[in-house]
Amino acid sequence: MDIKQIFKNNQNWVQDKLDIDSNYFKNLSEGQNPDILYIGCSDSRVTAEELMGVSPGEAFVHRNIANMVANTDLSAMSVIDYAVLHLKVSHVVVCGHYYCGGVKAAMESADLGILNPWLRNIRDVYRTHRIELNGIEDNEQRYKRLVELNVQEQCINVIKTAEVQRAYRERNITVHGWVFDIHSGKLIDLKIDFNKILENVMEIYRLE
Ligand code: CO
Repeated sequence: MDIKQIFKNNQNWVQDKLDIDSNYFKNLSEGQNPDILYIGCSDSRVTAEELMGVSPGEAFVHRNIANMVANTDLSAMSVIDYAVLHLKVSHVVVCGHYYCGGVKAAMESADLGILNPWLRNIRDVYRTHRIELNGIEDNEQRYKRLVELNVQEQCINVIKTAEVQRAYRERNITVHGWVFDIHSGKLIDLKIDFNKILENVMEIYRLE
């Protein structure tokens, strides 16, 4: 990729925005009021704003390998804290995607150095759902199901945080689990039954 081209692209983008609204950047500089916190994968094929069709200012975004919400990850925890307590988002989305390299790596036996502890979180998801996953004979279907179950478990990790639990009590925040299907471009709502999950996990994770 020609890096110089990126700056040309940027100039064109600035001009396109100003052609439509001469105050576009002035307004943008005045502050943000996003309604969605989007937690997704770093995968270059899975954008955040573009696949949702939202503009700058509409989504607060956190991306890492395999859209993880690790309980000891200061970055993810800070993003959730800021988005929920300060920006007061109404929706927290964890968006995984089929054909995720991170999830695939976690299904294989290999020493991947610094990636080991990160991917171990996904191996833990596999262990938690081992009976269901081992019951799926087709490798690709099992891989896709692990992507979905990983999203579900990361949503549970979102619910474990004190910030989200407080927002649940005070203003009915909602958590969503989605999967982006790279093969079709479609966004799939996993329709995770959070009321049921909440009943289950809050017995152990309640923080009030
Ligand atoms: Co991925």
